[in-house]
Amino acid sequence: MTTTDSDSRVGPASAAQALEFPPDFLWGAATAAFQIEGSTTADGRGPSIWDTFAATPGKVLAGDNGDPACDHYNRYAEDVELMTSLGLAAYRFSVAWSRILPRGAGAVEPRGLAFYDRLVDELLAKDVRPVATLYHWDLPQALEDEGGWRNRDTAYRFAEYAELVHARLGDRVQLWSTLNEPWCSAFLGHHNGIHAPGLTDSQASLEAMHHLLLGHGLAVEAMRAQAPEDHRFSLVLNFTTAWADNDDSASRDVVRKVDGLHNRIFLDPVLGRGYPADVVEDVAWVGDWQRVVRDGDMDVIATPIDWLGVNYYSPTRVAPAADPAHVTEGPFPGLRGAELLDPRGELTSFGWEQSADAFAELLLTLGRTVGDLPIVVTENGSAFHDEVDELGRVDDPRRVAYLLDHLRAVHTAISAGVDVRGYLAWSLLDNFEWAEGYSQRFGLVRVDYDTQVRTVKRSGATLARIIGRNSVPA
Ligand code: NOJ
Repeated sequence: MTTTDSDSRVGPASAAQALEFPPDFLWGAATAAFQIEGSTTADGRGPSIWDTFAATPGKVLAGDNGDPACDHYNRYAEDVELMTSLGLAAYRFSVAWSRILPRGAGAVEPRGLAFYDRLVDELLAKDVRPVATLYHWDLPQALEDEGGWRNRDTAYRFAEYAELVHARLGDRVQLWSTLNEPWCSAFLGHHNGIHAPGLTDSQASLEAMHHLLLGHGLAVEAMRAQAPEDHRFSLVLNFTTAWADNDDSASRDVVRKVDGLHNRIFLDPVLGRGYPADVVEDVAWVGDWQRVVRDGDMDVIATPIDWLGVNYYSPTRVAPAADPAHVTEGPFPGLRGAELLDPRGELTSFGWEQSADAFAELLLTLGRTVGDLPIVVTENGSAFHDEVDELGRVDDPRRVAYLLDHLRAVHTAISAGVDVRGYLAWSLLDNFEWAEGYSQRFGLVRVDYDTQVRTVKRSGATLARIIGRNSVPA
């Protein structure tokens, strides 16, 4: 491991300049199994939908796949060491379902469970708090062959798997999330097909959405039934702030639609408010998922959670379309009469707009929406094409600026009374960025995929200093 020099531009610590975080604020970083582990056939692991998708020509940039990724399956101890060198108090990882149950259900693979045992033990030995996510998009292929998330049974298989993993790791892991960003699984995976399983079927996307939420509720019920008092369960959702240039009623209406189809469609049912009526109306013309909703489902989905995981990257610019019947291309099933506008300002290498103001606005809005439910920022970060200098260092000023600006936004929200308990940066390591393969780098730590050498970037050193001071410069 090499280290980029610490960040001089963060400046000297001075109480007057510093925005202090609460004393028990949870600082950490996040990853996901398929994006970092590699070893996709080791120790009995079954194939997942992302193995299949990546093996399908044209689906992932440059034909990249999950091997070797960051070889984390073999290098986890080195990576935990890296976390301690950054001063991380918490690490959010995901469990690969098909390592535990290679066919999604039935026979358990003990070597898969043993890997997560080793990882959790290593984290605890180094005083890093594990935060486990049970589903970060890598559905066992065997379940996809039975209809995947379109099939209601998958929700029950997910709850069984969650119960199993929780029973095994629950003596050491207290913080749990069921699903990561089910919006992406449902809509990117089934509506516009850019993620596995690659379907372009609106009705399928709505069914997947409902079954994902049902699986979430069933899993929380199953885990809580066997959990000690101090376990805390959550769902991780990806939020955007919808922005229009004008404040006329047509603009407000398209903002409402995008907010509905991105944020409220998942959040409202989990909070016990059911699917929002306006969203049901918006998607009714592309599919009818209400006929898959059975009696009692909404109660299961509303099983109380203990905290909400918030992933945020960028705002969405939107305007009323000249033609009210215009159908927007993209991830939102049912979005009519709206035009998605180009992102503005200096974009990340992914082409995403950078706006910490949108993040602050989102957190303030959530603070009003979720009542007394604590929030943890479970992902936030930026992709840039990094350059390695002749000494092997990575100076990534734009990622540093993104990090500082977004942490100031978190501080603004906390100061306004929003109960944000932690910040887990995306990502600890450069990794497999789904359809973009290895072309997009979000890491605080650079990974050389040829040598597997890890190099802490200036952004990583910056986060380490922020954690050390528990404050961000004003
Ligand atoms: C959210 C996803 O959870 C994560 O897997 C992905 O890499 C980041 N967004 C960046 O796109």
